Amino acid sequence: MEKISSPESTRQRILEILSRTKDILTLPTIVQEILDVTSSKNTSASDLTKILESDPVLTAKILAVSNSAYYGFVKKVSTVSHAVVVLGFQEIQNIALSMSVLKLFDRRGSEFSDKLWRHSFAVAVATRMIADYLKMRMDGKYFVGGLLHDVGKIFLGQYLPELFNRLLVSMDDPKNKLTYHALELRFYGISHAEIGGRLLKSWMFPPDIADVTSFHHDPSKAENDPLFVACVHLADILCTFKGISPLKDQYFFSVDKEALGQIHCQKADFSTKDMHFLLSRLEIEIERQSSFVSVFRR
Ligand SMILES: [Fe+2]
Ligand SMILES: [Fe+2]
Repeated sequence: MEKISSPESTRQRILEILSRTKDILTLPTIVQEILDVTSSKNTSASDLTKILESDPVLTAKILAVSNSAYYGFVKKVSTVSHAVVVLGFQEIQNIALSMSVLKLFDRRGSEFSDKLWRHSFAVAVATRMIADYLKMRMDGKYFVGGLLHDVGKIFLGQYLPELFNRLLVSMDDPKNKLTYHALELRFYGISHAEIGGRLLKSWMFPPDIADVTSFHHDPSKAENDPLFVACVHLADILCTFKGISPLKDQYFFSVDKEALGQIHCQKADFSTKDMHFLLSRLEIEIERQSSFVSVFRR
């Protein structure tokens, strides 16, 4: 039984667990190798191919994804080197990251983790849809950022499960007036966003994806790609508005001003009309892109 401590000491305990990066929610070594190789300037396509081919399961999945309806290539992609050429370094990196993230969601089978998975997947799809709608350069990082934005909640559910359950019970209490975020600070002294950001940094994830996780509720603090963070922030709101949320918390339906400013730089006349359009597309897109992820989950 976890004893209730002060928020300050729980925060310290969480930071201590996070500092033992080897023990926590570890990623497969190959993902680390892919991250190293794709972030190095001196890497060639053959270096990446060699790493991918060393893992038969990953190879099979990359080929399955490359040939899925999601990409819609007419010609069959039959080798890893072909997949690297047609999809590019970035996309291959993002596929590998997405797969590693899915592993994290698979560890638990609780109702909350199922809902969190649905929410994270929907936010990934919505982020990609918004980026496309705003005519941003297509990049798989939008999907990965959406999938990972709430990874701090996976950590809380896995490492402090009793405390997390107590928080969820408090959320459901009709007398409770506090938002999920306020409860998080009261119980842990740290937010899931800060935990997630620290986690991704310790995994050496690209800084723009770590920023998404750290600042999706506070997009004005984003340093690396504020428009990307703004897209995830908006995606999170759209999904919550649609009821695709792991919590009953309806705390935020207004888009952060700075995030909206970022979106306006991309599409000057973006308004509630566009939000309604995006909301109307959301379920269709979730259905369409589930084929992409079902390949990973097999
Ligand atoms: Fe969040
Ligand atoms: Fe979220």
